[in-house]
Order: sequence, then C-alpha cells, then structure tokens
Amino acid sequence: MLRISGVSKRFGDLSVLENFDLSVPRKGFTILVGPSGCGKSTLFNVLTGVVTKESGNIYWLGERLPHLGKKSAYMQQNDLLLPWFSMLDNALLPAKIAGEDMAKSKTKALGLFRRLGLDGFENYLPGEISGGMRQRCALVRTLMFEHELTLLDEPLSALDAITRTSLQSLLLLLQSEFNKSILMITHDIEEALLLADEVLVLSRLPMRIIERFDLSGSKPRRLSDRHLIEIKEYVLNRLQQELSR
Ligand SMILES: Nc1ncnc2c1ncn2[C@@H]1O[C@H](COP(=O)(O)OP(=O)(O)OP(=O)(O)O)[C@@H](O)[C@H]1O
Ligand SMILES: [Mg+2]
Repeated sequence: MLRISGVSKRFGDLSVLENFDLSVPRKGFTILVGPSGCGKSTLFNVLTGVVTKESGNIYWLGERLPHLGKKSAYMQQNDLLLPWFSMLDNALLPAKIAGEDMAKSKTKALGLFRRLGLDGFENYLPGEISGGMRQRCALVRTLMFEHELTLLDEPLSALDAITRTSLQSLLLLLQSEFNKSILMITHDIEEALLLADEVLVLSRLPMRIIERFDLSGSKPRRLSDRHLIEIKEYVLNRLQQELSR
C-alpha cells in the first residue's frame, strides 16, 4: 500500500535518511523500534510532508506522491494540543477544519474519550491535565478519522503500565474493527511484540532497517511465549551492538 524508495533527508551536515526503503502492507500493523535519535520521527515527518525530503520517492497504492498529506492520520511524538482549547475542542479541530458534520463528530469523539478513559475531562484545558491524558487526547484526535493508514509516534510512551496495557488492547481492537493499517514507533520492544504483524529494527544514523521480524499470527499474544522471548532477547542484543558500534 505504501512504499518508499531511496528517500534521503539531511539536517545541515547530519544525514538522517540515506537511500531509505520501506514497504507497509495493507491492513497490517508495522512497528519500528530503534535507538533514540536514529531518525524515526524524521521518517514520519518526511512521509507526511511536515519536513521535505531531498530525494527519493513515496508511492501510495502505486501512485507517486510528494508526501502522504491527508491520506494518513498522524499522531506526532509531541502532542501539539492547543492550550486555549478544551480537550474535546482539540479532538474535534481536524473534523471542523475538514468541514465534517460536527454533531456526528462530537458523538464519535465522546465515544473515544470514553474508550480511552478520558470521560469527564472533555472540558479541561491541556494545561490542567497530566501528560498521559494529553497523549490520550492526541490519540482520540488521530483516531477521529478512519484513514487507510495511521502513523503513531510513541503514542503510549507517557502512560503508566496499566493504562498502557489497556490502550494496547484498544489499539488491537481498533485495528481489527476498522481493518486499517497502522505504522507505529515505540521504544518498548515488548509492546512491539504484542501488537505488530511486522517489527522493523533500525540502525543508528543514517537510519537503515537492520532486522525484520514477521509476527503474523493470532493476537492477543502472551509475552511468556518462548518464541517472543527469543525475539526480544535477540532484538535487545542487536540494539546493544548497534549502540556500541
Ligand atoms: N527539524 C530538525 N532540525 C534539525 N535537526 C533535526 C530536526 N529534526 C530532527 N533532527 C535531528 O535528526 C536526528 C533524528 O531525529 P529524530 O527526531 O528523527 O529521532 P528519533 O529516532 O525520532 O528519536 P527519539 O526516539 O528520541 O524520538 C537527531 O539527531 C535530531 O537532532
Ligand atoms: Mg522520535
């Protein structure tokens, strides 16, 4: 569905992406794990047109595009909530800009607030709630549209273990319910092993894919599964090697 080929991006002297290739299948859950600062967010920013690439091609359903733009929903690493809007208004903003039916959008947003454990906080301002709640609000805003592809940059990183586990289950449920693709970044290898159909392990700068694991199989999974324990240890070793390179 999405294929990028030979994409390069530099910031001044820093080469972040050099001839980077990636394919994302339809209806899959693809997860990227890699060292901090290796270029993961930059890749998402290039894909969505937040920053411009120097070279390379992005293909969406076979069609070459400068970037995905509105074809995907993107939850950035930084929650980007507007401080003077309530949580609900923040979640509704993209629907408003897109000229959607606001009554319908509001019903949908309230349902997502409930599912993400934010009911009762709809009228709070971002400055009045915790980092984890802001992150969930940004997730509501991203899930408001059922795009073919949703890009999530560490969507659960600010959450406690219990909330995180329940939102991991919710992401699985939403993906099977809407039958869409998710491309997600996480630092948490266990999270990747629980959720992904495919895990891609990334190198340091310039970013390359150094390992690829196909995990297609039944979900929910259990981390006590021997196969997953082996992959986890392998990935941790691989990342350690990469960091000491
Ligand atoms: N807008 C920018 N201007 C200049 N340098 C940038 C910019 N965005 C990213 N960088 C640099 O590019 C490199 C990759 O950053 P990026 O944010 O993509 O890493 P990341 O893999 O998402 O890291 P993390 O896991 O910590 O979020 C870093 O060295 C960063 O300083
Ligand atoms: Mg990042």
